[in-house]
Amino acid sequence: MADSQSDEVQHIVQGSITFRQYCSGCHSIQRQSYEDLARLAGWNDKAAKKQLMLSSSTQITDRNLSALPDESAKASFGIVPPDLSLYVTQHGSEYLYHFLTGFYPDQHARFGVNNKVARNTLMPDILGPLQNIMSKESYHKLVSELVSYLSYTSDPSTIDREGVGVGVLVFLSLLLALCWLLKKEYWRDVE
Ligand code: HEC
Repeated sequence: MADSQSDEVQHIVQGSITFRQYCSGCHSIQRQSYEDLARLAGWNDKAAKKQLMLSSSTQITDRNLSALPDESAKASFGIVPPDLSLYVTQHGSEYLYHFLTGFYPDQHARFGVNNKVARNTLMPDILGPLQNIMSKESYHKLVSELVSYLSYTSDPSTIDREGVGVGVLVFLSLLLALCWLLKKEYWRDVE
């Protein structure tokens, strides 16, 4: 893993841990296996199981599925919480950020909260209580990491593409240095 990638990868990995803690009780990411995450984070199977809090019966190769059976979801919410594999591709990362931070108290709403961007959403304000115990910066970081993670699940190739971008820049810098040396060499002959 190149150093230039590690900040971004860490962001995504931290987001995946937060997702396991706060979201996977209700939401799946069918498109992804725990192994995909382990590979990204550089965890061995044992570390992955610990970090992602997987039960002993869960295999590392299993899909990232929610803990909530569809029937129970329907009974509690009247709806099955959507799989979030491709959410960012469909709605964009900014929308996701505004959704997650857009809850406000509304006594007429089912769970006592409404949402500025998804009016009358049936999702409870899962992260709300954290706002009371975290600093503004830490809270923003936590939500941003979740957004990074869900952007990554929508399009895992973004990381590779950025890696290629850095490679191209390094190549161009080397080429420039070579041209400069060549120029010096030529001019020495002239002088
Ligand atoms: C207790 C169950 C539950 C948990 C935990 C939960 N959600 Fe939800 N979520 C729902 C339900 C139910 C819906 C469907 C809402 C609707 O369609 O009205 C939903 C919808 C969503 C949507 C779609 C919003 C839209 O309408 O476009 C997103 C995105 C989402 N959740 C993200 C998250 C994230 C991220 C977390 C973790 C921080 C999380 N959810 C945790 C129940 C949950």
